[in-house]
Amino acid sequence: MKNIIFVCTGNTCRSPMAEAIAKSLCKLKNINILSRGIFVYNSFPINENAKQILLKNNINISSHISKCITLNEIENADLILTMEKEHKNILKQFVNKANYAKNNNNFKENNNIFTLYEYVEKKELDISDPFGSNIDIYEKCFNELYNLISKINFNNILEENMIGIGCDHGGFKLKSEIIKYLTENNIPFKDYGTYSTDAVDYPIYAKNVANDVANGTLDKGILICGTGIGVSIAANKIKGIRAALCHDVFSAKATREHNNANILTMGERVIGVGLALDIVKAFLQTPFSNDERHIRRIKMIEE
Ligand code: RB5
Repeated sequence: MKNIIFVCTGNTCRSPMAEAIAKSLCKLKNINILSRGIFVYNSFPINENAKQILLKNNINISSHISKCITLNEIENADLILTMEKEHKNILKQFVNKANYAKNNNNFKENNNIFTLYEYVEKKELDISDPFGSNIDIYEKCFNELYNLISKINFNNILEENMIGIGCDHGGFKLKSEIIKYLTENNIPFKDYGTYSTDAVDYPIYAKNVANDVANGTLDKGILICGTGIGVSIAANKIKGIRAALCHDVFSAKATREHNNANILTMGERVIGVGLALDIVKAFLQTPFSNDERHIRRIKMIEE
């Protein structure tokens, strides 16, 4: 099940309209669509103008009650689409502050919050708030939302590949660079820590990422320590994990094609950032060959 949340300010106009439109367009059972607000002090039904425009388009959302988004909802969402850049910034700050508190002066960032325009059209635009305006402005807002949401490929969301990234103190700096790369390239990821250069035990981080790759929560993992060796040995103890230590692009490509490796490991003390990012790119972009002889050999490893 994938959770998508549309977010606006008060959850009475734009986001409930977006939720209703998305529900009318997405027929997939495995996608749960919600809407929430950033500042919601009281529960209100959907704005009357918004409701009228939806009804005019045969979309019903009469049972909607405005709700404020919670940290738990943010953390469990697979995709959050905000109406404005400001909403996105506030949500990110909220998550960072909560993690800052939880992780003793460090924070993690998951890359699943986008503005609707950014996600659909890669544009830095906001959807203006129609609150208090006449019905024509609501209709304009509805059309803008409908146009964007109709371009979302919900099947892709269902198959969207989440990457898990973890490290020990010896890999923290390289992990931060890889996170920057994943963020800039809109690649969804979850950060499993560690969150500083304070000394920690790498098997814990390797195990957490490897477990989530093995149970299907993550599509692939990236693990960094000083050499890449410790996390590789640890991750490969988990059934179903094929962790590959790669310090060159050729190996990263080959291990995807031949071994269907599901975790990439690297050593921060071994290679530079530029090469590491090329390796990450090759690892994430290379599909498994599906060649019969490779399938046979992987099966042998599993057995
Ligand atoms: C930590 O000093 C180092 O041992 C670790 O990062 C890793 O290289 C283990 O294989």
